Amino acid sequence: MTTSIEYSNSALKILFVASECAPFAKTGGLADVVAALPKALRQLGHDARIVLPLYKTIDRAKYDIRPLASSCVHMGQGEENWIELHQTVCDDVPIWFIEYERFFGRDGIYGESGGEYLDNAFRFALLSKAALQVCKDLAFIPDIMHLHDWMSAPAAAFLKTWDAVSSPLSQTASVLTIHNIGYQGIYDASVFGYLGVGGDLFRPDVFEQGGKVNLLKAGIHFADGITTVSPTHAHEMLQNSGGHGLAPALNQRRGDFAGILNGVDYNQWNPETDARITANFSRDDLSGKALCKADLQKTLGLETRAAVPLFGIVSRFAAQKGFGLLHEALPSLLENTSMQLAVLGTGELETEEFFRRLSTRFAGRVGVHIGFSEKLSHAIEAGSDFFLMPSLYEPCGLNQSYSMRYGTLPIVRATGGLDDTVHNYVEATGVGTGFKFWDATSDALVGTAMWAIATWFERPEHIAQLRRQAMSQRFLWSDSARQYLWVYEHALRLKRSGAV
Ligand code: ADP
Ligand code: GLC
Repeated sequence: MTTSIEYSNSALKILFVASECAPFAKTGGLADVVAALPKALRQLGHDARIVLPLYKTIDRAKYDIRPLASSCVHMGQGEENWIELHQTVCDDVPIWFIEYERFFGRDGIYGESGGEYLDNAFRFALLSKAALQVCKDLAFIPDIMHLHDWMSAPAAAFLKTWDAVSSPLSQTASVLTIHNIGYQGIYDASVFGYLGVGGDLFRPDVFEQGGKVNLLKAGIHFADGITTVSPTHAHEMLQNSGGHGLAPALNQRRGDFAGILNGVDYNQWNPETDARITANFSRDDLSGKALCKADLQKTLGLETRAAVPLFGIVSRFAAQKGFGLLHEALPSLLENTSMQLAVLGTGELETEEFFRRLSTRFAGRVGVHIGFSEKLSHAIEAGSDFFLMPSLYEPCGLNQSYSMRYGTLPIVRATGGLDDTVHNYVEATGVGTGFKFWDATSDALVGTAMWAIATWFERPEHIAQLRRQAMSQRFLWSDSARQYLWVYEHALRLKRSGAV
């Protein structure tokens, strides 16, 4: 996709449709992006709004979420699902919530106790269709529907198939952002009837894959613009090795596909103002960081030692994040060095168990919290010296960028957004913002962690320099939002030319 299109400057109406948005519902970086990008677009003068499910866990009183209207969402096979619509405004962004007790009145977002809800395809197909219905019923006709991952990808199909002739949304273009192509929404063909899009679309270039339904693939087919969350990952996705089976579908649309790096919301992630951490600090005065380290060590039962390098991990426990490499690398690193480790995460049970065992075996040197904790995630970013992200693939990754802002040097595998955001340390000069390795092997990970530890003990002046450089990096949402505006323009042009 060319990014040289001139942007027309007229205010756009943009509706985000998503399954997560901080602070309401979050399992990972998707929630951070959906919270931050509409804000940045509004600051550029556009009318960005959000549609989310009203999960049972969202505190209506706390966020002043009020009922607004009832709507009937027409799904396939004559299903009429009545939803209740609610609204609030958060950081100046209007948010509409879809209440549908049968699908969203549960304790989890996608599942519970490590398992996925079996009807997720139905739940998020309803969200996707409800977004269109809400526009119609509230007479908010967006120029752009901005969809996120497979969970709202069906909206791209609905926009092109729903009331094709008389739809008030016939001029609305869709942009699909693929945050994680490892999750495609592949479900039993029985869900297809519920979508109600017409049987002729159950074919391999649209919805069908090996006799099942692939919701993300259909989104790629129908969206007017497609993005992912870093330029390097966009390139990777077009290769058979990086497309998780969808490289051919993406290559079909490569002229409408771009990689835009995620930004960081520095109102949330700033050591100078962060109210969640023990002491604030800045690039020019790191004394507060030492207090954060000591406090983190206490919180996680680590020996309170300033001199040893403390490594942090905050992550969904998923294979994507390189836990296979960590399972092999960490015992040997802990045996052969004085490093400490602070871990926060939840997900695959095998990894949860691995870290529990590690914290018993290396008591006082490995502290683990299994679960989800906003506060502890900030404490680990602030109090650690190094941040580990050995991902097998990483569309963008936010934690490495957060950690840089807190002077916590990322150790990353050079893939996707990790490669785009971290500058590798140059030993001769001290230039860089972190440590990188390329091979997806535990040897490469161990070698690079050892390099970081050697730098810690032997070249402390370089650690100080790397910290200053890392803390000076900025990944601004306003820059990313401007690039999304190019994509929106491109998508609008395509839609209004009737090309896709
Ligand atoms: P992904 O979206 O693939 O999980 P990112 O690095 O883009 O990876 O974003 C992860 C986001 O989720 C960050 O905001 C991180 O702090 C947060 N996060 C992940 N696991 C936890 C957890 N257990 N507790 C609190 N925050 C977490
Ligand atoms: C995904 C990716 C992650 C990205 C996040 C937000 O979950 O795994 O790399 O930063 O979405 O775009």
